[in-house]
Amino acid sequence: MAGKKRKDDKFKKNILCIGGGYVGGSTMAVIAHKCPHYKVTVVDINHNRINQWNSDMLPIYEPGLDDIVQTTRGKNLFFSADIERGIKEADIIFVSVNTPTKTFGTGAGMAADLQYWEKTARQIRDASDSNKIIVDKGTLPVKTALAMERILTATNNDVHFDVISNPEFLAEGTAISDLIDPDRVLIGSRETPDGIHARNEIVGIYKNWVPEERIITSDIWSSELSKLTANAFLAQRISSINAISALCEKTDANVNEIAHAIGLDKRIGDKFLSASVGFGGSCFQKDILNLVYLCRYYGLNEVADYWESVVRINDYQKERFIFNMLLTMFNTLVDKKICLFGFAFKANTGDTRESPAIYIAKRLIEEKAELVISDPQALENAKMDLGGMDGRIQYVEDPYEAAAGCDAIAVMTEWDMYTNLHYEKIYQSMSKPAFIFDGRNILNHKMLFEIGFNVFPIGKPKLSHFRER
Ligand code: NAD
Ligand code: UGA
Repeated sequence: MAGKKRKDDKFKKNILCIGGGYVGGSTMAVIAHKCPHYKVTVVDINHNRINQWNSDMLPIYEPGLDDIVQTTRGKNLFFSADIERGIKEADIIFVSVNTPTKTFGTGAGMAADLQYWEKTARQIRDASDSNKIIVDKGTLPVKTALAMERILTATNNDVHFDVISNPEFLAEGTAISDLIDPDRVLIGSRETPDGIHARNEIVGIYKNWVPEERIITSDIWSSELSKLTANAFLAQRISSINAISALCEKTDANVNEIAHAIGLDKRIGDKFLSASVGFGGSCFQKDILNLVYLCRYYGLNEVADYWESVVRINDYQKERFIFNMLLTMFNTLVDKKICLFGFAFKANTGDTRESPAIYIAKRLIEEKAELVISDPQALENAKMDLGGMDGRIQYVEDPYEAAAGCDAIAVMTEWDMYTNLHYEKIYQSMSKPAFIFDGRNILNHKMLFEIGFNVFPIGKPKLSHFRER
């Protein structure tokens, strides 16, 4: 056994995480918090990100994260740009680098882009001079662990590696509570004595705070495929209810009533049945497309078509929203001033990756509307997402100021603050007729209608002051 690792006697084990993003940063903060006997180090190629992790202004916004980082940083949680040293000192290495959709070459627009993950595997191999457990934390195509093993063992450097799959199920905005109180933790390994030994080491970390019955173990391929499947099932529920929302709007049925009625069936359950302008986020679309690509690769075209339709309905829902706005506002949006309430892909995060608001904003600009974008956390990201767009766009944090003088408000994100605004005051400040398109069904539609707004929810009858002919 190679054994040149420098040991810090204060700690039982050294854990390293390569990739200090949403998952790496939050997961390691919670591990450090719950396991004071482990030294946890997060490294990243992005030095700016590491500097932010070491500052009072963390690179990501997650409720509860600041407190945990403040109590652990400098004690058993460290952020560093020295990747090589981190690898050398580690017993266990979590890999949590980005795995976006490929934008070039074979599989462009569908397959996972594994370049960051592959470079990390080579870095680990080249810098290692002692045995290590490598834990894939990212969302990866099934059989990626095999590729990891092949890269790690491609040179004969007398170092033994065990590869584990431990996909992460946290959702942004609730990352800390999801990590502290997870529904389950999934740990997959090779079912060999070495594989099971390594798997038990990782179980040992989570056992510090997760009840044992919620730590499940499996073979490595099932673990990898469970993650893609979980995201596909969650997204499928949203597309299913969104598809029904379109039918509700034609038939005066109410999608909220339907979600309530079907959600009481225990076999269906009540979660993830909120109709919306569409799902966003860095993972659902990318992971479903990845699944579709895998199915096509294995010749399962019917299966691929089935899952692809989840993404197609999501695109349709966003376009339907724009079409409704256009139709309602007299078939032209030219020079109309539209205020977007929210830009983040969901509430309680500043993340805007794949946010439906990006699509809606771009389409409104195409229609030559003027935009005012408001969001309590996501304005900096919004500026980057829409940078370079030709068009009139203002970014205004205060929702009252943002809505003043506008023809319409479109709710893009379900931030609580939007439900508690003084809408009478907002109505008075807007151009008339004033419209609200509630892409999240969070507002009190009847009250808004009584104030004077023309109100267009998702999957519910519209409340319009115009007489039908
Ligand atoms: P992210 O983009 O926020 O962070 C990834 C980080 O990895 C970046 O800071 C990047 O600079 C760094 N990185 C890339 N290559 C590197 C290298 N060679 N060496 C060191 N650092 C490197 O990504 P994320 O949202 O944290 O997602 C990471 C993985 O977890 C993805 O596979 C994703 O699908 C999965 N996941 C994400 C979420 C989520 O809510 N964001 C939830 C569960 C799983
Ligand atoms: C999702 C999963 O929920 C996590 O379990 C998973 O770990 C993560 O993806 C991942 O792999 O990255 P996340 O994307 O952070 O988490 O957020 P969700 O709460 O799932 O919301 C995704 C999108 O669906 C948001 O735009 C949200 O507004 C939308 N949504 C959600 C709806 O439109 N309706 C709903 O009923 C629920």
